[in-house]
Amino acid sequence: MKPLIAANWKMHKTAAEAEAFCRQLRQMEEEFNGVEVLICPPYTALTAVHNALEGSRIKLGAQNMFWAEHGAFTGEIAPSMLREWGVEYVILGHSERRHLFGEDDFLIRKKLEAALSHGLKPILCVGETEEEREKGATEKVLEQQLCAALEGLEQEKPGEIVIAYEPVWAIGTGKAAFPADAENAAVWIRQVAARHLPEEAIKALRIQYGGSVKVENIAEFIALPTVQGALVGGASLEAATFGRLVIAAREAVSR
Ligand code: PGA
Repeated sequence: MKPLIAANWKMHKTAAEAEAFCRQLRQMEEEFNGVEVLICPPYTALTAVHNALEGSRIKLGAQNMFWAEHGAFTGEIAPSMLREWGVEYVILGHSERRHLFGEDDFLIRKKLEAALSHGLKPILCVGETEEEREKGATEKVLEQQLCAALEGLEQEKPGEIVIAYEPVWAIGTGKAAFPADAENAAVWIRQVAARHLPEEAIKALRIQYGGSVKVENIAEFIALPTVQGALVGGASLEAATFGRLVIAAREAVSR
C-alpha cells in the first residue's frame, strides 16, 4: 500500500500561484516513486491545479464539500461539481471545519456518504483537543468521531477511505505528536474502523498522521507500522519544501 502524502493548502494561493507551485513540483516528480502525492487547493484553484497536473501522477483533492446534489445552499459546493473538476479525494471533517465552522458529526457523516456515493475518496479527519488529551479522553473522542462517521456504512459498500489522525493541538503549532502516540492512535482507529467497515475496506484503509508534519519529522511518522501517509498544512505551501518532504517520505518507506 503506497503512503498518501497530501498537501492541505487551506485558504492559501490564488489560481496563478497554484499553477506556479505545480510547475515547480512536477520538476521533482520523478523522485516521488512509491508515494502517492495529493494536492488539495482551495476550490477556486481546482481547475488551475487540474490543468497544471495533466499527464502527472500527482492527484487532486478538495478541502471540503456539501452533501446535497444541488439546491438552495448558498456558498456550498456539491460532490458532482468536484467530480467535474477532476477531483479524486475530498478532506472531510477537518478540525478547522469542526471548530471554526461548527461542523458536527452528523453533518460529516452525511458528507462522507455523499462522497462515497459519488466515487470520491474521503479523507476523514479525527482528533482530540488538548483538553481532551489531558483528561485522558483521546480514545473515547476518536471512537465517538469514528462511530458517528462509519456506523452502518457497511451496507453502502464503502470504497476507499482514508482516515487522518490529526490531534487538534498539533495542527499549525509546530508541536507534532510523539510518533509512539500517533502509532497508538492509528492502531485504535484501525480497531474501531474494523467494527464498522467490511474486511475489504479495512484492507484498503490508509491512516495518515497530520499536525506539524515537516521535512525533518516525516520519516518518523511514515516509518510507523500503522501509519500510511501524512496530511500536511504549513509545510505544503512551498513546492521545494513539499517536494523534499515527499522525497523524505519515499526514502523512509524504502528503508
Ligand atoms: P499543519 O496542518 O501541517 O500546518 O499542522 C495540518 C492540517 O491542518 O491538516
